[in-house]
Amino acid sequence: MHDTCKTEAAVPVNPAFKEQANIQHEHLYTLAAHDPQAYWNLQAQKLSWFTPYHAVMDGTFAHARWFAGGTLNLAYNCLDRHMPYAADRIALYCADELGGMRTVTYSQLLEEVQKLANGLKSLGVSKGDRVAIYMPMISEAVVAMLACARIGAIHTVVFAGFSAQALADRIQDASCSVVITADGSLRKGKMLAIKNTVDCALERCPEVKHTVVVQHSSLACSMDLERDIWYHDLLADVDAVCAPEPMQSEDAAFILYTSGTTGKPKGIIHAVGGYAVGAASSMELVFDVKADDIYWCTADVGWITGHTYVVYGPLLLGMSQLIYEGALSHPHQAITWQLIDQYKVSILYTAPTAVRMFSQWGDALPHNYDLSSLRLLGSVGEPLNPQAWHWYYKHIGRERCPIVDTWWQTETGSIMISSLPSIHAMKPGCVGKPLPGITVELVDDLRMSVQQGTGYLTITTPWPSMMRGIWADEARFRATYFPNDRYDRYVSGDAAHVDETHDIMIVGRVDDVLNVSGHRIGTAEVESAIVEYIAVAEAAVVGKPDAIKGQALVAFVLLKDGYAATEELAVGIKQQVVASIGALARPDEIIFCADLPKTRSGKIMRRLLKDIVQGNTLSDVTTLANQDALALVAQQWQHAQQELR
Ligand code: PRX
Repeated sequence: MHDTCKTEAAVPVNPAFKEQANIQHEHLYTLAAHDPQAYWNLQAQKLSWFTPYHAVMDGTFAHARWFAGGTLNLAYNCLDRHMPYAADRIALYCADELGGMRTVTYSQLLEEVQKLANGLKSLGVSKGDRVAIYMPMISEAVVAMLACARIGAIHTVVFAGFSAQALADRIQDASCSVVITADGSLRKGKMLAIKNTVDCALERCPEVKHTVVVQHSSLACSMDLERDIWYHDLLADVDAVCAPEPMQSEDAAFILYTSGTTGKPKGIIHAVGGYAVGAASSMELVFDVKADDIYWCTADVGWITGHTYVVYGPLLLGMSQLIYEGALSHPHQAITWQLIDQYKVSILYTAPTAVRMFSQWGDALPHNYDLSSLRLLGSVGEPLNPQAWHWYYKHIGRERCPIVDTWWQTETGSIMISSLPSIHAMKPGCVGKPLPGITVELVDDLRMSVQQGTGYLTITTPWPSMMRGIWADEARFRATYFPNDRYDRYVSGDAAHVDETHDIMIVGRVDDVLNVSGHRIGTAEVESAIVEYIAVAEAAVVGKPDAIKGQALVAFVLLKDGYAATEELAVGIKQQVVASIGALARPDEIIFCADLPKTRSGKIMRRLLKDIVQGNTLSDVTTLANQDALALVAQQWQHAQQELR
């Protein structure tokens, strides 16, 4: 693999942070290296089990079973077990773009979760049933997930920015019988009528028997009397006590859809016991959690970061945290700093795209606020480039707070690689080293180990929070993640670089998955949305570097005979993508072409389109069948860039 990476010099961690660090981690690395099962047993023992497990891990790598025989409940571990000492502790500070502020204590959360759990039971939901959640970032979203967990229903949260069609696809794939939603969701000053989106999706989903609707806005909301019920009405009529369902450790906890290299998103399955252990242990280690922390992770519950580091991780540890409904740019550009100042946030966990956006707004804004409560900064979802790292470190952390750049995936369930500031120095642009109990190896095209340099990032031993499969698609699971015949390693789909001190830098995806503002978008999904448009014959989508979003989508489009390339058509195509997937997948540019570069067997050569868009010299063109098409596409691209300027 081509190697152009060079890591930066290490930045030492502020000694005061190290002195005050809660956990001294060295011994955990030693234990995990010598006896991984003993290490994971130690971590699992921090949770409450109804019945003990008889083995820490058994089975094969691809189908490893963790804590088999043990029973537990995620909601019980997040709530009930904290009651003796933290009933009145604030679990959630809920803020929004309109200046709204509510607090929810652990006992209030427990009460509401039990009521909704009973409400779901009254609608016929039982253990193993699938429930879709399509919600804004409000406390009821957390309640909905935990209520499912309490009764053993499998939740599938769909980010509320996804379109009706994308929601319907996920509901159908998982055969959900109930949808929990709200009448509105606040975003950039607008209340979006998300119940309308649900109604539209459900036209295609007759298997959904009920929707539960949180009244959250003053928007008019049509209710189907047979199918829809208000959340407050459902909770008004139920018992306030609901015993937690004892779940087998290997029972499915949730499904979360993510993009892959085909047009169909993958329903990633996570299991109760292993997921709980991964979420709690990584939360504690990476964020060096302390009793008086006020934590803020800016992710939406619709993504894995929202699952593990907004809902389950913090609540498993009994933490207090802020959740924010809206965009970090609204109502004004300093809202993030205002909230940190107001709530005395001590840990901020956000995405590089947000850091780059803040830095573009200038250095002065954060300095107008008191950020002295911060003690640790985190980053996730895409490479935190050194420039953004230094800005975050200087202007937000004031050269006092360490930064943890955490690498992981929907599939890994919890953080796999991150420096731990109590023992490691930080390298800007690097994610650091694998956590205790996680073993990674870079390999080259010949599957040989890369000790220093660039290679494919693989994980070589099972870990508790690893995915348990793709919903209803075992073959795709094997082919995607365990592609070699020996099934002896998990293949992440990322390339990475490892340097002389074993620090890892993530290079990016090696498949046709793009990372736009930290959101994973499969190019095939966008392409199939574009070709649904009547005028389009073929499309190829590639990523171009973007100063804020990391990558932006560029679509090369071949029109059917009889259609002319116009601005209206480009707008129509973009709208088609928004309707099929959601605004997060809207291409930035549509480039109309007379032909697309193809191999002799007719496959579009996206690699060459990528070279054009990224300004690279063209890679190997020996298999290219239509040289002229390539030259024309390059011209079209140059022309479009000149127009943009
Ligand atoms: O390419 C890697 C990138 O995000 C992908 C996983 O996306 P998703 O499943 O949506 O989960 C995102 C949040 C965990 C990875 O394959 N990625 C994730 N974290 C980092 C990263 N790239 C660079 N640095 C990171 N810290």
